Amino acid sequence: MTADLIDGKALAADLRARVADAAAAFETACGRKPCLRVLLVGDHPASQAYVRSKERAAHRSGLDSTVERLSAETGQAALLARIAALNADGGVDGILVQLPLPARIDPEAVIAAIDPAKDVDGFHPVNAGRLMTGLGTPLVPCTPYGCLLLIRKALGTASLAGRTAFVLGRSNIVGKPLALLLLAADATVTIGHSRTADPACLARRADILVAAAGRPHLVGADWVKPGAVIIDVGINRIPTEDGKGRLVGDVDIASVRPIAGSVTPVPGGVGPMTIAVLLRNTVLAAAARNGVSIADPAEGL
Ligand code: GUN
Repeated sequence: MTADLIDGKALAADLRARVADAAAAFETACGRKPCLRVLLVGDHPASQAYVRSKERAAHRSGLDSTVERLSAETGQAALLARIAALNADGGVDGILVQLPLPARIDPEAVIAAIDPAKDVDGFHPVNAGRLMTGLGTPLVPCTPYGCLLLIRKALGTASLAGRTAFVLGRSNIVGKPLALLLLAADATVTIGHSRTADPACLARRADILVAAAGRPHLVGADWVKPGAVIIDVGINRIPTEDGKGRLVGDVDIASVRPIAGSVTPVPGGVGPMTIAVLLRNTVLAAAARNGVSIADPAEGL
């Protein structure tokens, strides 16, 4: 048996096409495009590449998106003032502050300053609380929601109810929100982390295994239940002889493929989904803020 590769590029393209339809419907109703503002502080090279990709994808799906590049010397007060201005601007639907921020700036204070209705990253404590309690409709963090869509795709018509899931990683950006999404979908969820004793043993019992540990090729054959769905959130650059480096995930794909049922590749798995979900969140935020009824582009994907 060889595990199927779950094609994140194709699923993301489907979602972006649905977002484009929803954005066009919003424009017909409101006379303007859904509007995303991205704030980038400093010149972190990976962040520069991420925000360029986000902006390009947003334009292709018919969103109004601009990146505001602030100098590396920008202080917290100036950034908070910029966020306050975007919060007050009725024509702005989504605000994203690219992380990581320079060490001088407290990311928690910055995230808490964003209007929860415009928090398309889903990082604000109000959105995190809605996700945790199931009370109200949260904007959900992009990478975890992208993982959930990939898992649903891999399962086909089968339900998540009654399945066991092991999420390796407990960050606020990936591990915790993904565990809550899987729980809300009636999976039985275990969260592992760097202090977990024998994570491979827990992983081997899981129908769904998500690796978000940031450790290259950590997950090998001895972590995998036969037929499991494996989602690899890791993006690790490892050195190569030509000096350019190579991106690898947390999963040793060659080792798990003979056992797993399906697995996401790196690159081309979770990465493209994160951006597509950001666009989906922006359209949903625009619709909710403006009282426009638009179907969730991810529904029935
Ligand atoms: N940096 C890496 N991933 C993300 C993300 O999903 N959102 C933001 N704002 N910054 C990031």
